[in-house]
Amino acid sequence: MCGIIGFTGSGDAREIILDGLKRLEYRGYDSAGIAIQNKNEIDMVKAQGKVDNLISLSNKNNKLDGHCGIGHTRWATHGVPSDVNAHPHMSTDGKFAIVHNGIIENYAEIKSKLIEKGVKFLSETDTEVIVQLLDYYYDGDLKKTLVKTTSMLEGSYAIGVLCADYPGTIFAAKVASPLIIGVGVGENYFASDITAFVSRTKNVIDLDDYEFAEITKDKVTIFDHNFKEIKKEERKITWDVAAAEKSGYEHFMLKEIMEQPAALKATIEPRVKDGKVNFDELGIDIKKYDRILITACGSAYYAGCVGRDVIEKLCRIHVHTEVASELRYRDPIIDEKTLVLVISQSGETADTIAAIKEVQSKGADVVAIVNVVGSTIAKLANYTIYTWAGPEIAVATTKGYTTQVAVLYMFAVWAAFKLGRIDENKMEEYTSNIVSLPERAQRTLDLNTRVKKLADKYHEKQSIFFIGRYLDYAVCLEGSLKLKEISYIHSEAYAAGELKHGTIALIEKGRLVVSVCCYEPLLDKIISNIQQVKARGAQVLALAIEGNKKIFSEADDVLLVPKANELFMAAVEIIPLQLFAYYVAKNNKCDIDKPKNLAKSVTVE
Ligand code: M6R
Repeated sequence: MCGIIGFTGSGDAREIILDGLKRLEYRGYDSAGIAIQNKNEIDMVKAQGKVDNLISLSNKNNKLDGHCGIGHTRWATHGVPSDVNAHPHMSTDGKFAIVHNGIIENYAEIKSKLIEKGVKFLSETDTEVIVQLLDYYYDGDLKKTLVKTTSMLEGSYAIGVLCADYPGTIFAAKVASPLIIGVGVGENYFASDITAFVSRTKNVIDLDDYEFAEITKDKVTIFDHNFKEIKKEERKITWDVAAAEKSGYEHFMLKEIMEQPAALKATIEPRVKDGKVNFDELGIDIKKYDRILITACGSAYYAGCVGRDVIEKLCRIHVHTEVASELRYRDPIIDEKTLVLVISQSGETADTIAAIKEVQSKGADVVAIVNVVGSTIAKLANYTIYTWAGPEIAVATTKGYTTQVAVLYMFAVWAAFKLGRIDENKMEEYTSNIVSLPERAQRTLDLNTRVKKLADKYHEKQSIFFIGRYLDYAVCLEGSLKLKEISYIHSEAYAAGELKHGTIALIEKGRLVVSVCCYEPLLDKIISNIQQVKARGAQVLALAIEGNKKIFSEADDVLLVPKANELFMAAVEIIPLQLFAYYVAKNNKCDIDKPKNLAKSVTVE
C-alpha cells in the first residue's frame, strides 16, 4: 500500500527521494509525489501513475532543488487516483507539506469544522485535514502543533512533515501504521519500510505508536506527547541491498521463487539442534492449551491451512483456522486455554493486527510467525517466530509462504514431542524430513523449463480449477490464488470430493483442471476425481510424487516432485504451481510484480 520516504542531509534530496520511491513501488500504488524544501520554501510535484511519470516531471522542475524533502506513493482510499489527490498535500499558504499512510476515520468531521472556519480544501483525501489542521493551529512551535494536531486524529497514520520555517528538518509521527527511521552519517531518513533507504544505511530506529521524531541531518530526536525525549536503541539490518534488487532476474517474483531453497535453509537450520526441532527458547508452555486457532489473511492463511492439518494430525489437539478479517468481528469463543498462531509476511496486515487485539482481549496467547523484524505484529505477539525469508518485494508471496509452512511444520513436530504424542525416533524422522526441504525445493526448481512449456500450452485458458484432497487441497488454495492474482485468469480451488456437489457443472470440454496428487494415502480418491473430470472433457495437469507411474495414464500432463513423508510435502509441491502462475502471467504480458489493484502490505481494512 502507500509508501513514504523522508530525507535530510547534504545530498540531492530529489534524487535520493525519487530513488527511494522507485524502491517502494513494489508496495502497490496509483500516484506519487515529492516535496523538497529549499531554504524557507517548499516545492512540490505530483503525478498520477508510475513513479517514472513523476521522475520526468521532476526533472523538468528546477525548483526541486534542496537537501531535505518527503516523497510518497499513494494507493487510493479516499478520492480517486489523480494528481490532486496524490501526496504530498500542502497547506493553503504553502507552509506545510505532509505525506500520510493509513486512514483518518474522523476526517469528515474535522474537514467540515475547518471549512466552517474558512479553510479551503483542494483534494478529496482524508490526509488533507492533517496538513490544514497543522496550519490552523501553528503558532511557531511545530513540535507543539504536531502533538496537538495528532491528538485530534482517530484512525491510523504514519506521517512525514515538512515545515517552511524549519529548513533541513523533517518530522514524523505514527499510530498503527509502520514508520522507521534510517540513521546515516550526516544524513537521516524516515520511511514506511527499510527498502526505501537500505542502499544508503542499514541502521534503523523503530518509531513506536504515539511517538514523534524530529530529524535533522546530524540528529534524531524521539519524543512523546509531553515532549519528553525517549531514548531508543538502533538496530542493524542484516540483509544486503542486493536482497531487495532483481539481481539479473526479469522479475522479483522469479528471483524470490528461486531463493526458496536458501530461505528455507535460513529458516530451518537455526531451529534444529542435535537432529531435533527446538523451539524451547520461546518459553511456550504448550501443555497449557486445549486448542489452537490459526488466523491470517490471503496466502498466509493458506499456509495456516497446511499448518492446521499437520499440527492436528501430530499433536491430536483441536486446531481451527479462520481468516483474520472474519475472526475480528465474530466474537469467537476464545480464552486463556487457546493458543493463537498468527501468520504474516509483512507483519503489518490491518485485519491480522485487529484479530490479534481481539483474541488477546479474550485472554489468549499469540504466537506470531512473521517475516519482517520489528513489525507491528512481531511486537504485539506474546511469542514471535521469525521466518528468515529476507525481503520479499513481489506482491505475490512465494518464499514468504514456503517459509511460513516450514515454521508450521517445525512447530507441529516440536509441540507433538512436548505433548508426548511422538517419541524421540519419530521426532528425528520428522525433523530430517523438514531439514531436507531446501534440497527438495532445489530439485523441484529443476522443473522450471518444463513448467514454462506447460504455461505456453495453457496460458490462454479463461478459467482454471485446482483440485486436491486434505493437505493437497490446502496447497490448491494457494496455487489458485497465485494464478489469479498475477495472471487475472479466473481460478478456483476445490476440495476434490466436493466437485460432484456442484462445481462439476462447470467442467466442460477443454477446461483445465490442475490436480494435486501428492498426498499418496488418498491417491486412489483423487484419481477417481480426475477420471470424473476427464469424462466431461477436461484437460488435466497433474502434480504427483516421483515414482508415481499410474498418474501418467490418467492425466494429460504430469509434473513430479521429490518424495518425502506425505505430511511435509506442501512446501515443495507449491513450487511448480508458483512457477506455473508466473509463466502464465508472463505469457499474458501481465505486470507480474505489481498486479493491478493489489498491494504488498494491506495496512488498511
Ligand atoms: O503480509 P501478510 O502475510 O500478512 O499478507 C497477507 C496477504 O495480504 C498476502 O498473503 C496476499 O494474499 C498475497 N498477495 C498473496 O500472494
